[in-house]
Amino acid sequence: MAIIALNGSPRKGWNTHLLLEKALEGARSKGAETELINLYDLNFKGCLSCFECKRKNGPSVGVCAVLDDLRPALQKIAVCDALILGSPIYIGEVTASMRALVERLTFQYIPYSKERTTFFEGNIPSAFIYTMNVPESALEELGYTEKFEFYGKLLSRVLNAPSESLISTETWQTEDYGKYHMSMFDEAERRKRRSEVFPQDLEKAFALGAALVQC
Ligand SMILES: Cc1cc2nc3c(=O)[nH]c(=O)nc-3n(C[C@H](O)[C@H](O)[C@H](O)COP(=O)(O)O)c2cc1C
Repeated sequence: MAIIALNGSPRKGWNTHLLLEKALEGARSKGAETELINLYDLNFKGCLSCFECKRKNGPSVGVCAVLDDLRPALQKIAVCDALILGSPIYIGEVTASMRALVERLTFQYIPYSKERTTFFEGNIPSAFIYTMNVPESALEELGYTEKFEFYGKLLSRVLNAPSESLISTETWQTEDYGKYHMSMFDEAERRKRRSEVFPQDLEKAFALGAALVQC
């Protein structure tokens, strides 16, 4: 089995990347081959609305026709056995790079048609790992829960398979909170959470990756 993870954080070695690595470790523990792609290493934009993926009798139906760094990643995703996306929340959304990836990945498969819900003929179970500053208690009120459900439904619809989410809240954001204008955060509390709660999130990520192999 081939499992691909896409990191939508610009920061390697930080929360999102660590959770994705752990999920892939879980997948490898069940015998999968894995690859992690850092979206911020790639030069690409979101959907250009060229409609080549929907042109009747066209050469690129169901395949994004844009030729940039994302094309090889989209090609790999199309033949993988499971997909894991990971993104921090930036200003209430997934990061710009992750959003661009979601546009390109999903729109190519969406026919504006009454007869079918996707051009994609395979089945790719997926998971989306989100990391963020806010506490779990604020997710509903901020509309984050609805957003995560939306992405889950979207992925599940176009990839013809279930999609899970893993949510890591109140993450450790910088090595030294004192250096920045960040007084709204309690550094000691965050440090404690980093050592006590984040390891549990890593365990959940491992289990998520392992479970994707058994899908
Ligand atoms: C530009 C920017 C915007 C952010 N906006 C939000 C936000 O709206 N809500 C939130 O909960 N966290 C927000 N955060 C915090 C990050 O989501 C959080 O620190 C995340 O875990 C960072 O992921 P990383 O460590 O993998 O880079 C923001 C961080 C940055 C840099």
